[in-house]
Amino acid sequence: MKEAIYSIDVDAGKDLRGFNSFGVQASAPAFTSVHSPREIEAVARAFNPDDLLILGGGSNMLFIGNPQKFVLHNQLIGRGIMSRTGNTAIVAAAGGENWHDLVTWSLRMGLGGLENLSLIPGSVGAAPMQNIGAYGVELSDVLHRVRAMDLKTGKWVHFDAGDCGFGYRTSRFKTVDRGRYFIAEVQLQLTINEHTAFTSYGAIKQELAIRNIIKPTPADISTAVVAIRKRKLPDPKKLGNAGSFFKNPIVPRKTYQHIRERFPDLTSYPVDDQNVKIPAAWLIENTGWKGKRLGQVGISPKHALVLVNHGKGTGQEIWALARQIKASVLERFGVELEPEVNLIGDLPQ
Ligand code: EPU
Repeated sequence: MKEAIYSIDVDAGKDLRGFNSFGVQASAPAFTSVHSPREIEAVARAFNPDDLLILGGGSNMLFIGNPQKFVLHNQLIGRGIMSRTGNTAIVAAAGGENWHDLVTWSLRMGLGGLENLSLIPGSVGAAPMQNIGAYGVELSDVLHRVRAMDLKTGKWVHFDAGDCGFGYRTSRFKTVDRGRYFIAEVQLQLTINEHTAFTSYGAIKQELAIRNIIKPTPADISTAVVAIRKRKLPDPKKLGNAGSFFKNPIVPRKTYQHIRERFPDLTSYPVDDQNVKIPAAWLIENTGWKGKRLGQVGISPKHALVLVNHGKGTGQEIWALARQIKASVLERFGVELEPEVNLIGDLPQ
């Protein structure tokens, strides 16, 4: 501790089961909910970033053990339209807001841009960390600015979209600056009248066709995305999960062609001249893991990329299953899967 803190309440031994969407047990040595900028300023004065763990909606993390850190639950709330210029509205939302609530609010305000990102679990503050994405849109496409507390210097800072180090499911906040910034506010650049519809994703096209919609509004696209996600992904409130457990691997074209000679149905998404991205779900399904259950943990029968907790599973059991899946995919296809979820706690060997 750098100095004593008197302005926040701290819980010792807090049970984190209700704070992670896998619903696994873990205990925090110390825990506090951050409700105001003042509170995070006090924490930054008292602690070093290495001693802190920032928790948002807990929908993209797996506790493999107890975090040996002071856990900060981002509960900053508030949202609003900051400016309107031409066809562009800048919207600001506090980091503790629920992501999907922000999406539905923006649609009620008549704004476009977030519809493809409907029903993604988690908080606003966590969205830039892994550059959330779905159905052809990523957060980086609509992000204007991130405001954060630098826990190292105790100063407020901001990052424009180009400074966030965004990539496929990654950012500076998840890599080089992991744990350094407490994301207090996310500002988004949305459209007011003329909206761009991103409907090239096959499943969206089909959903709109079923509803006879030719010129979809942002709200129509959101409805389609919600329907697809409800069908394909298990609801974390009913069955513990963190969405896609692994990233879709980026492999050399040669590797893709080699696999495709044996499995002509393997699809790919272009990355650059040398590499393509291939679906991890396909690799997992084709090693026979989809729908399997090992005791209290398993793989969703709806989607092969979603590992689930049937109720009493532990983080270590989920991680052990993930490692078995990883080994099968490596053995059969020679492709290394990398987790998309953040692993918290010491990794058992
Ligand atoms: N597939 C299978 N078996 C399955 C499911 C899918 O073989 O059980 C194959 C199909 O060939 C399908 C392909 O995998 O065409 C891709 O599947 P899907 O369209 O469901 O997308 P994904 O690549 O598995 C990614 C994101 C999701 C996002 C969807 C839609 C990652 C790691 N995941 O999944 O994001 O919702 O695209 O855009 O990039 C998340 O990050 O938690 C997440 C759910």
